[in-house]
Amino acid sequence: MGAGTVEDPPESAGPWVLALESSCDETAAALLRGTRDLRSSIVHSQMEIHARYGGVVPELASRNHLLSMPAVVDSALHAAGCTWEEVRGICVTSGPGLLGALLVGVEYAKAAAMARDLPLVGVHHLEGHLLAPWVATALGKPAPRLPAVGLIVSGGHSSLVHVRSPGDYRILGQTLDDAAGEAFDKLARMLDLGYPGGPVVDRLAEEGDPARWSFPRALWKKGNHDFSFSGLKTAALYALRDLPEAPTLQDRRDLCASFREAVVDVLVGKTRRAVREVGARQVILTGGVACNRLLRQRMRNAAEQDGWALAVAPPELCTDNAAMIGAAGYARLWPALSRGHGFQEHNLDASASWSLESLAAA
Ligand code: KG4
Ligand code: ZN
Repeated sequence: MGAGTVEDPPESAGPWVLALESSCDETAAALLRGTRDLRSSIVHSQMEIHARYGGVVPELASRNHLLSMPAVVDSALHAAGCTWEEVRGICVTSGPGLLGALLVGVEYAKAAAMARDLPLVGVHHLEGHLLAPWVATALGKPAPRLPAVGLIVSGGHSSLVHVRSPGDYRILGQTLDDAAGEAFDKLARMLDLGYPGGPVVDRLAEEGDPARWSFPRALWKKGNHDFSFSGLKTAALYALRDLPEAPTLQDRRDLCASFREAVVDVLVGKTRRAVREVGARQVILTGGVACNRLLRQRMRNAAEQDGWALAVAPPELCTDNAAMIGAAGYARLWPALSRGHGFQEHNLDASASWSLESLAAA
């Protein structure tokens, strides 16, 4: 390497990097030795703690991140066969997300990096989601080709993104109210199915009749790339209210199936439209809702019909995890890593709202 120049980050067998994630209700740590060389990924879910409240309680999330983070990091180091002495850099989700929850990860990372004089970088949570399929290449999946259209659908986000190159993102559309995962969670709450609702709704929908109710496909006719799921939620509430008796198991299954059909229809339809508009040949499907069986199936069908490639990571890389944060962070950390910098990031702070478009190329 010439003086002052920085080569591309290694895909594998490079210096050890620790990645941390705590933006919502998962405390997660991962170790990587390159942008595609994942050595361990530990996710500690707080699901049971929040389940009794029907959603994430921010204060409880922060407190439990604080309690769990040291053990989660130790487990990740142990699983990777790595020691603290071998770690050369740290990356951490610094936004967007719940401020208190983010702060735990950021402050933990800062303290560890400062104590060991390691370079540190803050990672955008959605960039992590978008890059999840690259981590999956270690599992034998082909790497996505850019430019691509990314559909990020989770409990906190529903966005269509034009991914022009790593770090160069343009938001094509996003939800104007609830996120897709949030809509599934709210339906589950109406039906007393527990939290998080998405997986249960998905399972019940498999046995239901998707044509029993025809729920609205909001903003479809507008022709833009934005989403809205709050009207759908109200329509489901009315359908439930108008049942002559308390909902039977079959009523619940049908309601879940009709609801899932409407959500998936809009997500797939708008993705196809965005792909046509930007002329992409690749779609990246990511976020917790990307675990939805019907969504995966319909996206695969659309890819086949329209002639584009679909990249979707395995479910454990679609929901919140630190491996994806490592994939995004490794490249951003690389200039400091390769130049042998120590800790300089005294001003790194958590940021609850942070635009994906404000990122610079890694
Ligand atoms: O990406 P994620 O783990 O966390 C956020 O960043 O929000 O996504 C969690 C969301 C929850 O709303 C959950 O209900 C939803 O993903 N989800 C699903 C499914 N699995 C998880 N939604 C629909 N169908 C699923 N199979
Ligand atoms: Zn997420």
